[in-house]
Amino acid sequence: MKWAAGAFVVAAALVALIIVNAPPPDAEVSGGTPIPIAAVFALLEAENDAVRELWTKEIVGAGSEQGLMFDKDWRQPGVDAGPLPALFLRETAESLRRSPAPLYLFLGSDFPVNDANRFTGAQQAHFAEIKRTGQPQRFLDEDVNLHSAMFPDLAVAQPCVTCHNNDPETPKTDWKLGDIMGATTWSYPKPEVSMEEALSLVGALRQGFRDAYRQYLDKAATFANPPAVGENWPSDGYYVPSADVFMGEAEGRISAGTMRAILELEQAQE
Ligand code: HEC
Repeated sequence: MKWAAGAFVVAAALVALIIVNAPPPDAEVSGGTPIPIAAVFALLEAENDAVRELWTKEIVGAGSEQGLMFDKDWRQPGVDAGPLPALFLRETAESLRRSPAPLYLFLGSDFPVNDANRFTGAQQAHFAEIKRTGQPQRFLDEDVNLHSAMFPDLAVAQPCVTCHNNDPETPKTDWKLGDIMGATTWSYPKPEVSMEEALSLVGALRQGFRDAYRQYLDKAATFANPPAVGENWPSDGYYVPSADVFMGEAEGRISAGTMRAILELEQAQE
């Protein structure tokens, strides 16, 4: 009994000690050294590149061969078409704008097909630097006070060149394979974020991909001849994958790279 009482006192003292020395709950959650936002942008850019390729090849490319159409006027009623790659990206950016994350995404150029995509102000100078060096640029965009990174967008396939050169609105008709046609710009208000915040940005971007794809499915449902939606892809016939199937494939392609990048950031924090 005596021993038990003694043990109780020791235990109580220990608990008191632990409580006093416990870190505040906040520190425990967001612990670790802050991550530079530039590292997060690089990770988001890799995801965006992979999903843009999935959209371009497996939906736009394979779908065009099955009779599905993709058009810059895809939003117009009566136009039975889906978004071109640049417009899929714009839908993703719109979803981010609606999300609570103050993360901005923009695909611009100095010779844009759509004048609304023309770089202005400081962005113009940073894009000139990309064209000179071929390297991504990081900067504080003082016009809007946002930390930004710009990544080159290359003419990686002949259709990029052909479609842009032949567009009635294009200010430039001699694009060549391999040219830097524009740049993807990411912006965020803070120079550094916690790991938790970095992960929430990845989550917001993935929701953006899903929302963009859903916009397409909603439009496809109104076509005079709507494609069957489910497990199958356009490479199988006149089909499009459901949002879950599309995102399953996208996540399969992007998650290993993102996980590797996160583990590297985690190690760099120690
Ligand atoms: C079938 C036609 C077509 C194809 C193929 C195409 N684009 Fe575009 N692209 C467009 C149109 C139309 C726009 C303008 C969309 C809008 O209204 O914002 C655009 C927008 C862009 C922009 C933003 C600046 C601008 O010109 O308005 C870039 C950069 C771009 N495309 C690069 C590419 C690259 C790189 C590829 C190949 C990987 C590609 N495009 C494939 C038609 C195409």
